[in-house]
Amino acid sequence: MTGVSRRHLLVGAAIGAGAAGLGVPLLTGLAGSSSTGTLLRSRRPLPRPFSRRLTIPAELAPVRREGEADVYEIEQRVGRADILDGVGTPIWGYNGTFPGPTIRSRSGRPVVVYHRNALPVPTVVHLHGGHTPAEHDGYPTDLLLPEGSAGQHPAGHGGAVTVGRRGYAYPMNQPAATLWYHDHRMDFTGPAVWRGLAGFHLVGDAEEEALPLPRGQRDLPLMIADRAFDQDGTLRYPSRSDDLLGSPGVHPPYQAGVLGDVILVNGQPWPTAEVAGTHYRLRLLNASNARRYRLRLDPAPPGALVQIGSDGGLLPGPVRHDSIDLAPAERVDVVVDFARWRPGQHVTLVNDFGEDAGTGRVMRFEVGDAVADPARVPARLSADHRTLRRADATRTRSLVFQSRDTGGAHHWLINGRPFHPERVDVAPRLGSVEIWRLVGDLHHPIHLHLSHFQVLSRGTGGPRGTDAGWKDTLDLLPGEPAEIIVPFADYPGRYVFHCHNLEHEDMMMMGNLTVG
Ligand code: C2O
Ligand code: CU
Repeated sequence: MTGVSRRHLLVGAAIGAGAAGLGVPLLTGLAGSSSTGTLLRSRRPLPRPFSRRLTIPAELAPVRREGEADVYEIEQRVGRADILDGVGTPIWGYNGTFPGPTIRSRSGRPVVVYHRNALPVPTVVHLHGGHTPAEHDGYPTDLLLPEGSAGQHPAGHGGAVTVGRRGYAYPMNQPAATLWYHDHRMDFTGPAVWRGLAGFHLVGDAEEEALPLPRGQRDLPLMIADRAFDQDGTLRYPSRSDDLLGSPGVHPPYQAGVLGDVILVNGQPWPTAEVAGTHYRLRLLNASNARRYRLRLDPAPPGALVQIGSDGGLLPGPVRHDSIDLAPAERVDVVVDFARWRPGQHVTLVNDFGEDAGTGRVMRFEVGDAVADPARVPARLSADHRTLRRADATRTRSLVFQSRDTGGAHHWLINGRPFHPERVDVAPRLGSVEIWRLVGDLHHPIHLHLSHFQVLSRGTGGPRGTDAGWKDTLDLLPGEPAEIIVPFADYPGRYVFHCHNLEHEDMMMMGNLTVG
């Protein structure tokens, strides 16, 4: 078991005077500890690893044009997923599937996605990594109520409420990137995503198309998510309210994060993919609520994972890694050349941050014969990359992410405050650039809506290898401050920034980002 329960080490000094001055006990991990959260165990025998085939989520075709925009239709409904042998698993899915269907859009070509809510609860759709006007960004109280419901949501909060069906319009005024969409309702994002409300949205552009990168069948979106199951095959999750309409959050001891004991890739437990001996693009997405991964191929030659992209799109040039740390919501696009292994060899994607043999593995590749293929990784990827400098920023902010236990109620706070939809927390000027200095007590994957950012520093050093490029989620480590630099461009309005440990998010670790 990882998590707070295992490591009551008080090392307040490590976090610096700013946070320690708040007088809150600070918990931090053992050296090399991996995730902030508590393992929730399945109540049925775990599936046999590598016995199922990797599946690729269906691609959604546009149903029509509206002006310049490609229009898509999605119904959010209860579905039944084939995850475990001998029993179906009820899920909440976009078009009833988990993962939801993949949308492939094109930079500069607007998209409208109509969502119909046939679920028993309100929902909110957020395009994670989308550079989206505020009214379509999926603000946590801009609810889409179930079809047929009678208007007002009891919880109120003054959001823009729609009944049954609404469109989300995305200008797609951004470069090629691996984005994803998921539920974002205030207080209940964790359980809704856990039940299946997540899918890929892949943006393409002319620059990427001109590169000789692997494509088609050799471009694999891989949504990695841990889950736990009950005897009857249903998903286990320790919600405080069964209908997800009452009290938010989770029961103790899971408040620091819910970690499952089954690793799913595209909804299949520890799947196997047959690959030819050539280059593949693997779009790695950590869609887990709280689990962090250290991903590595085993066995593998040095530098087997060649990173070409980050949250916000292609890097200026490739970066080679032996292993990749991936916090919730982060994406890393890598190219792997399977010609570096013998035909017939089994290559396992392992997770060095797992607790045991189960969570220590992710999926397996079965390498086939070498094939001729023009794909390769060019030395230059995106030419459209400007490195921001400290001097570009006109303002610096300090944000402290930490927990507070107030006799029973467990809250996750930013600068000592829980999320409140009506309070403005940060108000950057439209067109400005800011430096944010972030520090946390535990692992907090910090995500900003609207804008991508660059990482300036970690601790007393520079960014780490996987921080390269434009990011929208930062893997903030216990007690280690980090600085990011972020431009606020194009769209004014009310957005959020928050911890993407979804239990922390639901238990209030979110703030309003009001761009004016
Ligand atoms: Cu991936 Cu605010 O969310
Ligand atoms: Cu957090």
